[in-house]
Amino acid sequence: MPLQERCSQAGRAFFGNTAPWALVAPGGFLFLIRVRNLVHTYDGAVRAPALRGVDLDIDEGEYVALVGANGSGKTTLARHLNALLLPTSGEVLIDGHDTRDPGALRAIRSTVGMVLQSPPDQMVATIVEEDVAFGPENLGLPQEELGRRVREALEQVGMWSQRHRPPHMLSAGQQQRVAIAGVLAMRPRCLVLDEATAMLDPAGQRDRLSLVRDLHADGMTVVTITHAMPEAVEAQRLVVLHEGRVVRDGSPARVLRDPDLARFGLAAPPAIDLARRLQPVIPGLGEDLATADAVAQAIAGEAA
Ligand SMILES: Nc1ncnc2c1ncn2[C@@H]1O[C@H](COP(=O)(O)OP(=O)(O)OP(=O)(O)O)[C@@H](O)[C@H]1O
Ligand SMILES: [Mg+2]
Repeated sequence: MPLQERCSQAGRAFFGNTAPWALVAPGGFLFLIRVRNLVHTYDGAVRAPALRGVDLDIDEGEYVALVGANGSGKTTLARHLNALLLPTSGEVLIDGHDTRDPGALRAIRSTVGMVLQSPPDQMVATIVEEDVAFGPENLGLPQEELGRRVREALEQVGMWSQRHRPPHMLSAGQQQRVAIAGVLAMRPRCLVLDEATAMLDPAGQRDRLSLVRDLHADGMTVVTITHAMPEAVEAQRLVVLHEGRVVRDGSPARVLRDPDLARFGLAAPPAIDLARRLQPVIPGLGEDLATADAVAQAIAGEAA
């Protein structure tokens, strides 16, 4: 038997299915999220798999936007990140725990919090406060700590004043905030938001973006799934899914200038499109500009 295979067998005997050296990021620490050759085919699906071999590593503290056309596999991938779905083949490791290991489910779900695409699916209780308490209650926290967490989470999303209302009587945007609060109350290390601004008005979107920015600044790992490019450019890293595969992964400014974007069903936000068109005459509009503010500043700088 080749040496590598023997070492690997010995490793498995000692560490279980995941050898620790397979998880280590270049900085020497564990990847918080490691997705390896992930294939997912829904039961009974006669068509192609929803995910066809996804590789994706996310470090603790990263802010990643996941984009792609409808049906490209974003929600399917997100659901793998807290073991709501299990791989057809390949693997998903969360802080080193294999999502197929039933014994790791609690650790995985308290590491990665998920805000679903449709908030009403996530509402479980008849009043807001109880709904937010549901997750942390299941962690078996003492009453006092539970109360503190619920209050903090509802304040963070600006819904403390609505705590006695029934969730089904809130607007879609407010329901979304409550859903986010329910996840925050679990104090996860990673927040996965599936289309979380889709139902928000512009002010609500700005609020939510600044909430995510603050959480990230406090050390939270964020994976946000969005069709809104102005939101995607806020992230540090942009991952593009196309037909169940990762086809681009890099800084938003670089990925969104890719001439192939249209092929993946995506369009650059107007600021980046403008910068690309103006670059031949204004060389100062470098490839690192992603936001409207950055482009405006660069143009103003050239004009001065
Ligand atoms: N429960 C399901 N059963 C069968 N097929 C499904 C199921 N959910 C999703 N699919 C299929 O899997 C593929 C990926 O769907 P997914 O929901 O992951 O896409 P998405 O990128 O999140 O799309 P959207 O932008 O519309 O939210 C699609 O072809 C879809 O039809
Ligand atoms: Mg989706």
